[in-house]
Amino acid sequence: MWGIDEKIEVAGEIIANARHAVVFTGAGVSAESGVPTFRGKDGLWTRYDPEEVASITGFRRNPRAFWNFSKELLLKKKAEPNPAHYAIAELEEMGIVKAVITQNVDMLHQRAGSKVVYELHGSMEFVDCLDCGKTYRWDEIEKILERDEDMKCQCGCPYLKPRVVLFGEQLPADVLSASIEESKKCDVFMVVGSSLVVYPAANLPMYAKNSGAKLIIVNAERTHADDYFDVVIHGRAGEVMPRIVEAVKRLRR
Ligand code: APR
Ligand code: ZN
Repeated sequence: MWGIDEKIEVAGEIIANARHAVVFTGAGVSAESGVPTFRGKDGLWTRYDPEEVASITGFRRNPRAFWNFSKELLLKKKAEPNPAHYAIAELEEMGIVKAVITQNVDMLHQRAGSKVVYELHGSMEFVDCLDCGKTYRWDEIEKILERDEDMKCQCGCPYLKPRVVLFGEQLPADVLSASIEESKKCDVFMVVGSSLVVYPAANLPMYAKNSGAKLIIVNAERTHADDYFDVVIHGRAGEVMPRIVEAVKRLRR
């Protein structure tokens, strides 16, 4: 049975020889940036009811509950990209990773330098008033949240909704079809920091597998899908990902 060092070497070799690698990320890739995860040890869903704080029906019933939850998700402390985000951006820079498909809404991949990022669950970048249609940028909203003010639009409407996909909403069709396309055409599909339990996102590794791609997963805990992966590395993304990039560089010399 390989140890983690051998697994990192094998993953490095697969990625160094990739023609078209795709990276698929979840909350675990941002954990070391201080952004809480949803599941696993003290995940957000052990403290919040997703139906109440992250569904479209819950939002319409009580937008304040959503914004209190979002504060913890995104304002815990000023989240900065961590070494895992930078490692993934470097693999794109090296021409190996052609796309990042993320379930995260924290925009940390883009801030780390990744250029091609498919945000399956949208992002907090823009927030729209459901009444008058005014659009706010996230940094304007952040200031209101930090002042702990009531989240209300200038028109007085409390339904300020970020362009994130809440439970009960459809994923953006164009982003989903582009992500399926990428998963089908890649020859290496690497999952970083996801429990792979939310669909349709969690179907993507299977599209890649069925198209003959090699599958790698870097995750802190075991997932139900681990057995489908060619390389399974249980570890912290912020530590493992830079080591994989080092191995790729060594093997590409
Ligand atoms: N490094 C790597 N993996 C980590 C780390 C870390 N430092 N910390 C936690 N993890 C792992 C956890 O073990 C867990 O398996 O990351 C995974 C995160 O899983 P989830 O919290 O379920 O997040 P995700 O898979 O992104 O959830 C998908 O569910 O609630 C919805 O819309 C929400 O986008 C989210 C979707
Ligand atoms: Zn308004």
